[in-house]
Amino acid sequence: MSFASSVPAPTMDPHALLSQRNRDGALAAPAQWNAVLDTILHHRSVRGFLPHRLPEGTLETLVAAAQSASTSSNLQFWSVVAVEETARKSRLAELAGQQQFIRDAPLLLVWLADLSRLGRIAAEHQAQVDGTHYLEEFIVSVVDAALAAQSALIAAESLGLGAVYIGAMRNLPERIAEELALPPHVFAVFGMSVGYPDPARETGIKPRLPQSLVLHREQYAATSRSDAIDGYNATMREFQREQGMKAIDWTQQCFNRVKDGAALRGRDRMREALRNLGFELW
Ligand SMILES: Cc1cc2nc3c(=O)[nH]c(=O)nc-3n(C[C@H](O)[C@H](O)[C@H](O)COP(=O)(O)O)c2cc1C
Repeated sequence: MSFASSVPAPTMDPHALLSQRNRDGALAAPAQWNAVLDTILHHRSVRGFLPHRLPEGTLETLVAAAQSASTSSNLQFWSVVAVEETARKSRLAELAGQQQFIRDAPLLLVWLADLSRLGRIAAEHQAQVDGTHYLEEFIVSVVDAALAAQSALIAAESLGLGAVYIGAMRNLPERIAEELALPPHVFAVFGMSVGYPDPARETGIKPRLPQSLVLHREQYAATSRSDAIDGYNATMREFQREQGMKAIDWTQQCFNRVKDGAALRGRDRMREALRNLGFELW
């Protein structure tokens, strides 16, 4: 069986794709292009899923892709829980903002910052791993989980599947830990629903900030570049119109999201939650 033939061929002119991602910036035609870039640039979060189960072995393929991500010092401080049971998905949806797609998608992956595995191994070897109690190693584990998850997401999209991250999985960290039987020193960083996109609920490629606002050359240029921001607000309003979404400036949406602690929807008590989950964060 040829696996190469199952990789979707590039489907769109690169310039057209780049222009959808960055509508405001005139990007030069790329010198190089391939199917990997095509998959990455096609990304959009999918929240409407068909009920079909994933083919046998897909979960393991996604985890192999996740394990292929770089990992700090090869410590591999992450794990993932795959949830397919309807009742458990439903209970987790209740804990994660009642988002219906969590129930609808056949597969829910919960990506974990996992400092417990090495702790257990160390206990068997009477080895010392006090370094894992420092904030630094917590950051390492969260970064590791994110890199692994994003590799799985790209792999899923390359197979014609769709996915969406679920930050709301951090709304009630202790309850999520209980549902998933997480031992101390393990934290659910986010969830990810995976499945076949419902073609009736297809969404567009969401434009991002112009590169002039995110790409700094040699040194950081601290400027608010209000003309570029105004342009992006207008672009996002155009996108919202096209998608039938509520009209709101991107800037206002960001301000609303992080206005104060209450706007974090329960995640303002993250330090306390992490302590309860066994993280010292020295
Ligand atoms: C860590 C993380 C958490 C997210 N949590 C949620 C979520 O709980 N619910 C949701 O509908 N989308 C969630 N998203 C998806 C973002 O809203 C989405 O990626 C962003 O709006 C950009 O849209 P796009 O992915 O379609 O390009 C999350 C994304 C990330 C990276």
